[in-house]
Amino acid sequence: MDINAVKSSYKIWAPVYDKTFGAITTVGRKRAIGHINSRQGKVLEVGVGTGLSLKHYKPHLQITGIDVSPHMLAKARKKVAKRGLSHVKDIQEMDARAMKLPDNHFDTVVAMYLVSVVPDPELVVAEMTRVCKPGGEVLIVNHFAREKGALSVVEKAFAPFANKIGWHSDFSIHRILGEDDLSVQGQSKLPPLGMFTFLRMEKQGGNARLN
Ligand SMILES: C[S@@+](CC[C@H](N)C(=O)[O-])C[C@H]1O[C@@H](n2cnc3c(N)ncnc32)[C@H](O)[C@@H]1O
Repeated sequence: MDINAVKSSYKIWAPVYDKTFGAITTVGRKRAIGHINSRQGKVLEVGVGTGLSLKHYKPHLQITGIDVSPHMLAKARKKVAKRGLSHVKDIQEMDARAMKLPDNHFDTVVAMYLVSVVPDPELVVAEMTRVCKPGGEVLIVNHFAREKGALSVVEKAFAPFANKIGWHSDFSIHRILGEDDLSVQGQSKLPPLGMFTFLRMEKQGGNARLN
């Protein structure tokens, strides 16, 4: 899927997203944010979309959100203004493959339901790693392809329609596990039917900073 297809797709999704895909993916969002709320500091949410997550972050955190779709972001900005979410410091239109953000800056970098949507997921994870502080966490919530079983057949059947539905149904987790600076800390399956995964990774070098 190229970036123009992503933008076109999310222009169509934006008005209905919260009541459709957004509604069935609440569990993963709450699980990741529950974890982030136990942490401190600056959080970057990559592919923040319509901002469904924003009201769930605790006020001790400083949240930055980026997304490539102006239509999804317009919804997010509306939520921030309507609810007075003062912990949301910055919402920017930006391509996650080339972030205009400093190195080693955020304590936590999270992408929910993004990696199977972007054209170059490896590049996005490399960028997430770059902007994360050493010892910080890179978190991913996503659907990953099953290796076998009836649902794996369904996933493969939907794969050719990626440009229409806006995500790759047969996306392999191995595409995002190649970053040398990240070590996997945990991987849990989420309902419904273990369809989604919450993946926790840590950026190396946290102790080196203290020496
Ligand atoms: C399925 S939505 C998920 C939105 C949000 N994370 C959530 O939990 O509801 C995927 C989002 O990724 C965004 N996206 C896709 N490619 C992107 C890119 N290269 N850079 C930034 N955002 C991107 C889309 O515009 C869309 O808002």
